[in-house]
Amino acid sequence: MFSELKQLPPDPILGLSVKYKADTNPNKIDLGAGVYKDEDGQTPVLACVKKAETLRTANEASKAYLGSAGSALFNERINQLNLGDHNVIRENRIRTVSTPGGTGALRIAGEFINSCRPGATIWVSNPTWANHQGVFTAAGLKVETYPYYDYENKCLDFPSMIAALKQIPKDDVVLLHACCHNPSGMDPNAEQWQEIAAVAKDVGFLPVVDMAYQGFGAGLDEDAYSVRLMADAVDEMILCSSCSKNFGLYRERIGACSIIGKDATAADIIQSVLLRVVRVNYSMPPAHGAALVETILGSDELSAEWHGELAEMRDRINGMRQLLVDKLTENGVTRDFSFITRQNGMFSFLGITPEQVQRLQEEYSIYIVGSSRISIAGISPSNADYLAKSIAAVL
Ligand code: LMR
Repeated sequence: MFSELKQLPPDPILGLSVKYKADTNPNKIDLGAGVYKDEDGQTPVLACVKKAETLRTANEASKAYLGSAGSALFNERINQLNLGDHNVIRENRIRTVSTPGGTGALRIAGEFINSCRPGATIWVSNPTWANHQGVFTAAGLKVETYPYYDYENKCLDFPSMIAALKQIPKDDVVLLHACCHNPSGMDPNAEQWQEIAAVAKDVGFLPVVDMAYQGFGAGLDEDAYSVRLMADAVDEMILCSSCSKNFGLYRERIGACSIIGKDATAADIIQSVLLRVVRVNYSMPPAHGAALVETILGSDELSAEWHGELAEMRDRINGMRQLLVDKLTENGVTRDFSFITRQNGMFSFLGITPEQVQRLQEEYSIYIVGSSRISIAGISPSNADYLAKSIAAVL
C-alpha cells in the first residue's frame, strides 16, 4: 500500500526551520515561522510561565483523564481573556474546548462545521496563513478566497474585501483574522470591522475568527475588539484562539475552540457535537499548557507579570520594524518600505519576488516564507544591518 505514495514537498513554513537549522553560515537569519525571539535570537520560557510551572509541579494532584473539553477552569478563563465581560458569557451561549494549539482549534472548528453542513464552503482571505487551506480541506470543507491585500499599494484592499463578503452565500463560512493578519500584518480598523460585522449579520454567513496573536497588535483588549464586536452582531460564530505566541507555549500545544450559539439550549447541543468531534479525533487535549495558562490568568501577580512580558515582546517587534526600515534606507534602498511600520503583529510582507526570496536563502542564508512574509521577531540589532544589505543586494 505504501508504495503508492508520492513524495510531498516540505511544509512552506515548518520546512524552512529545518533548512535553517542545517545551515552552517554564522550569519544566517531565521525569519520563517512566527516564533518570538529576543535580541539574542532565543525563545526563552516566559518568567510567569516558569513560576506557574513551579506551582503546578507542587500542586498537581492527579494525571487522570480530564475529558474531551479539557480543563473547565482554563476554558472559563480563556473565554474571559478573549471576550471580556461579554453578553455571550452572561447569557450562557458559549461553549469552549481547549485544543492542541490554535491549529487544533481550527481543525476542530472545521470538523464541527462539516458535521453541521458536510462539504460546506469556507472563504479565507487572499492571502492567508499557509496552513488554513490544508486544515479546512482535511476537515472536509471546500475552500474559496476573498480579496484582502492590495499587493501594489501594500495595504488592505477593503473595498474589494467588503464587496466580496456581501456576495457570499448565506450559510457559507468566512474565516477572519482577529488581529495581526497572517501573513500581511494589515488589519481592518475599528470602523471597517463594524462594517464587516454588519455584513456578516445581513448576509448571514458564519464567521470563524482566528485569533492567534492576541496581545501582539495594540494590546490584549484592543486586539480582541473584532471578536467582541462580531459576537455582538451575530447569533452564531466560532472563535479559534491560541496561547502559543502570547504565552510563549508553542510546543505545549494549547489553544481553544469556542462556539457561540443563539441561546443556552442551542449551546448545549453545540457542546454535545463538539465533544463528539474531539472524542473521535484525539479524545482529549493535553493538560499541561492549559494548567499554566489558567494559573497565570487566575493570579493577579502572575497576570501582571505576563502583561509586562507580552508588552516587552510587542514593543521589541515594533522597534525592529522601524530599525529595518532605517537600515534599508542607510544601505541605499530607495524603494519605499515604510509600510513595514504600519503593519501589526509578528509579520510583514516585503513584497519582493519569489526569485529574490530564493536568492536571500541561497546566497545570504536568510530564511523567508516564499510569499515574502518575514517574521519580524527574527530581526535584532545585531543582524539588521546584514539583513538590510542582503535585501539591498537582491533588489
Ligand atoms: C506561522 O504562521 O509561522 C505560525 O503560525 C507557525 C505555524 O504553525 O505555521
